[in-house]
Amino acid sequence: MEVIIQPTREEAGRVAAAIVARLVREKPDAVLGLATGSTPLGLYRELARMHHDEGLDFSAITTFNLDEYVGLAPDHPASYHTFMRKNLFDQINITEERIHIPNGSAQDIPAHCLAYEEAIIEAGGIDLQVLGIGSDGHIGFNEPTSSLASRTRIKTLTQATIDDNARFFANREDVPVHVITMGIGTIMDAGQCVVLAYGEAKAQAVAGMVEGPLTAIVPASILQMHPLVKVLLDEPAASALQKADYYRRVHDMKPEWQRE
Ligand code: PGA
Repeated sequence: MEVIIQPTREEAGRVAAAIVARLVREKPDAVLGLATGSTPLGLYRELARMHHDEGLDFSAITTFNLDEYVGLAPDHPASYHTFMRKNLFDQINITEERIHIPNGSAQDIPAHCLAYEEAIIEAGGIDLQVLGIGSDGHIGFNEPTSSLASRTRIKTLTQATIDDNARFFANREDVPVHVITMGIGTIMDAGQCVVLAYGEAKAQAVAGMVEGPLTAIVPASILQMHPLVKVLLDEPAASALQKADYYRRVHDMKPEWQRE
């Protein structure tokens, strides 16, 4: 794992955007895996700016989102469909038919999950997966003890995640208990992963992901087995890392050709 510690979340978001933009320029028909939550907002703002100011072209890009709440219609204000539209898709020239987000209103959830997996394969697989990390170590909505080989399926949220996400809903009771999420196996099939984490509340989960034992109790720790992961952190999110000085040194000593 490559750990990149930036002074602020804004700077970390800009580094993430540079990584995504490089792929979009090199492979205009790339497949992006996208995440929701507060963390990727800076990345999406910067991608929208690059589209607007620099003509970064998303017209041939395909996207697959990680997850969605079960029971929320796509136009629900707290759905991830709404989130993506507002925070990214309405700001760039993405092609509508190339957008994929799990449908939380699907009647037959297992069939929908299978079709989602098949659509990823048909699109050629995910080139780059953007990830946040939950304070409990989840990636996507793969909560602690998720199978490390899991595929897209229904999951039940932990109380901790419901509490974390209650801020997006009028009442805590309105947060759906169930979600559809790409599995950990699905995420691990991506060509590369870019993980973003900001703030002290993520510090323990980040330490578990990067330096802890590989364990289903910290689902993000499976990323230690992925050959190409970049972890972008602000200082507070990096505060529990034992080897932070080493990660800074690696970054400072990088050969020019390896730089973002
Ligand atoms: P957050 O969520 O970006 O809103 O902190 C991250 C996650 O739960 O994966």
